[in-house]
Amino acid sequence: MTVEKRRILVAGNWKMNGSVEMASALTQAIGDGVSDVQADLVLIPPFPYLLEVGRHIKRSPHPIGLGGQDLSIHPGGAHTGDVSGGMLKDCGCQYVLVGHSERRQDHLETNQVVAEKFLAAQRAGLIPILCLGETLQEREAGQTDQVVISQLEAVIDAAGIAAFEQAVIAYEPVWAIGTGQTASPEQAQAVHASIRARIRASSDTIGGQVRVIYGGSVKPDNAREILSCEDIDGGLIGGASLEAESFLGIAKAAS
Ligand code: PGA
Repeated sequence: MTVEKRRILVAGNWKMNGSVEMASALTQAIGDGVSDVQADLVLIPPFPYLLEVGRHIKRSPHPIGLGGQDLSIHPGGAHTGDVSGGMLKDCGCQYVLVGHSERRQDHLETNQVVAEKFLAAQRAGLIPILCLGETLQEREAGQTDQVVISQLEAVIDAAGIAAFEQAVIAYEPVWAIGTGQTASPEQAQAVHASIRARIRASSDTIGGQVRVIYGGSVKPDNAREILSCEDIDGGLIGGASLEAESFLGIAKAAS
């Protein structure tokens, strides 16, 4: 089956970085430089800066999406410190990360919790960006596919395959995040192909359409090689998304 080339998505995960001033300047600089970018762009700032980033995005001549870094499994109520999908939507988000490895590590989020967050995101009308990835120890033990597919399986079990029509999957090997050590294009492509094959096993159409993006030390100088792989449909960019020039450099390489 031939599939129309999936549109590249480049998402900037700012993690716990920035200030109001930085959020404003960075978003403005990205908006100013985005005109010759063909890829879809999404900015994912910390919660306190969503409105500020959203304000600048609205003025950008080219559409730029907005996303949250996490959400609660609950729709509201007595959950101090948490943020619901409805609140993210209210602040202008279309996307939300679920199951980022830093959430899995720092907040002990299990595959079941991640699956509940995926469902909560879709209930709120957000597109979840589901993050999957193995640790170095798991890779060295030859368990990469097993770990990544079981993370994916938990969400398929909870949400059903049709839910992936409105979702993005991000493969982020934990050992490549923020380390400067990128997976080789061959390593990344192999895992992306396994993820897509698992989705295709339940629905050939959805498997052909779903965007599977790669994250882990993507930089302007390695982006083209990674993003040109057959099953890699974009990037989830951490460190390099904190400067307009490098984020746009990656988006241009992807275009
Ligand atoms: P990195 O982070 O680009 O800094 O490696 C990627 C991510 O965690 O989303």
